[in-house]
Amino acid sequence: MNQPAGLSHLGEVRDAAIGDRAAPCVMVICGASGDLTKRKLIPALYNLATEHLLAKEFAVVGFSRTPMSSEAFRTQLSKDIEEFTTSKSVDPAVWEWFLQRIYYVSGSVDDPAAYERLKATMLEIDCDLGTKGNYFYYLAVAPSHFGAIIRRLGASGLVREEAEQWRRVIVEKPFGHDLESARVLNRELKEVLDERQIYRIDHYLGKETVQNLMVFRFGNAVFEPVWNRQYIDHVQITAAESVGVERRGGYYESSGALRDMIPNHLFQLISLTAMEPPISFGADAVRDEQAKVLNALQPIAPEEVLNRTVRGQYGEGQWRGERAPAYRTEFGVAPESRTDTYAAMKLIIDNWRWADVPFYLRTGKRMAKRVTEIAIQFRRVPFVLFRNTPVERLQSNRIVIRIQPDEGIALHFGAKIPGPVMNVGKVDMDFSYADHFGVTPTTGYERLLYDCMCGDATLFQRADMVEAGWNVIQPVLDVWQALPPRNFPNYPAGSWGPREADELMARDGREWRKIE
Ligand code: BG6
Repeated sequence: MNQPAGLSHLGEVRDAAIGDRAAPCVMVICGASGDLTKRKLIPALYNLATEHLLAKEFAVVGFSRTPMSSEAFRTQLSKDIEEFTTSKSVDPAVWEWFLQRIYYVSGSVDDPAAYERLKATMLEIDCDLGTKGNYFYYLAVAPSHFGAIIRRLGASGLVREEAEQWRRVIVEKPFGHDLESARVLNRELKEVLDERQIYRIDHYLGKETVQNLMVFRFGNAVFEPVWNRQYIDHVQITAAESVGVERRGGYYESSGALRDMIPNHLFQLISLTAMEPPISFGADAVRDEQAKVLNALQPIAPEEVLNRTVRGQYGEGQWRGERAPAYRTEFGVAPESRTDTYAAMKLIIDNWRWADVPFYLRTGKRMAKRVTEIAIQFRRVPFVLFRNTPVERLQSNRIVIRIQPDEGIALHFGAKIPGPVMNVGKVDMDFSYADHFGVTPTTGYERLLYDCMCGDATLFQRADMVEAGWNVIQPVLDVWQALPPRNFPNYPAGSWGPREADELMARDGREWRKIE
């Protein structure tokens, strides 16, 4: 069942309860011959099929420029799934069931005839498989094609919703490269689609621990009362990768670490950490609260940018005892490149809960370790009773939410060291997802694809959220562009980033958490 526009949060419904099979539908992957299809989308759909979460009336249509028959596409995917499945092995019965539902249409994204062929294929599938005219499109193409594809889909009637049918579009990142381009793209999409048909995907929201943030905060009574400026000193969010740009130098040169990670993935983490309790778990109720946080993030004034942000680029270094190359020598990267591969910043949220509590963010490629985490640093106790441990030496509490790779939550607190003297030491209470639940590896796309099929946009970005994110970092982009870096490369591959990032913290009398 499709939702009428403008439903209030109280009236929001999913098409299916979680755990039910999704609604009958056809998924069209635009850009199906690219990497995302074989690495993530098909393995994710296969996992959903294994869990009986796809409708029996389901089909996938690959839509791409490469000329290929449906049969050839199936043969190719049968090879790819062996390499990219997250399961130990591919179940032949499930795969065969899935394979019968895979089709391919070739054509260029700007050729109207290609959309006519696509339409004819979809109508045939509706007749043969009973997919009921429900379609969703996954735009796995370069962002420069988004506008053209949407216009063509609109012109050919492929996104028009009639009677009980629904039509949705999933848009991959990057969603624009600055505030203006994000606005233009939103306008282009909305000329053809209603906002509730648009699913702007951020794969961070597919991660279990990111979703668990809401349960942790709002499903437990003990944390929320201390989750504010009265008890929290500051928050540190780290998204460090040990890999370099691999073979994506071409894309990365026009993006850099700031654009690639901060207004999207890291802002998701900030908004879920800082938002007020929503009044329901409906898509708009949750997203309204996230949007309020993004709107309350203080854009950094141009004269403050150099003081409150740090950029870096990796030079040659070592990782796990092996030589690691400099960014400027990577494939597709200019020898004099000034692209940032590291970005850090201090942000302030202007609201009652968070006034004066800095949020420090850092992200980078080729860092010492792959780790994404949120560290909530609590204030010190106001007064210390224990003679042998002066207040400055007393560790304050910290909650660390580990997003990846070792998902879990740890609480650090002080405890008496055994012995006749009253000494205080630091101990941890640690919950690990893998130990407790025995995690089954997934691609991280399963939940998002399933939610789209069920009409639940909670874990997707709304236009206003995307624009609010760009609005915060636009002054940084402007100043960084006007004043090109003079000291790149400024951190060795395999390190924790440039010295300036430590100085950013030191100016506030703080330091980055040492992650072992
Ligand atoms: C992508 C970025 O969105 O996220 C990549 O474009 C980055 O550069 C990736 O490597 C990180 O995702 P994850 O899930 O590995 O943290």
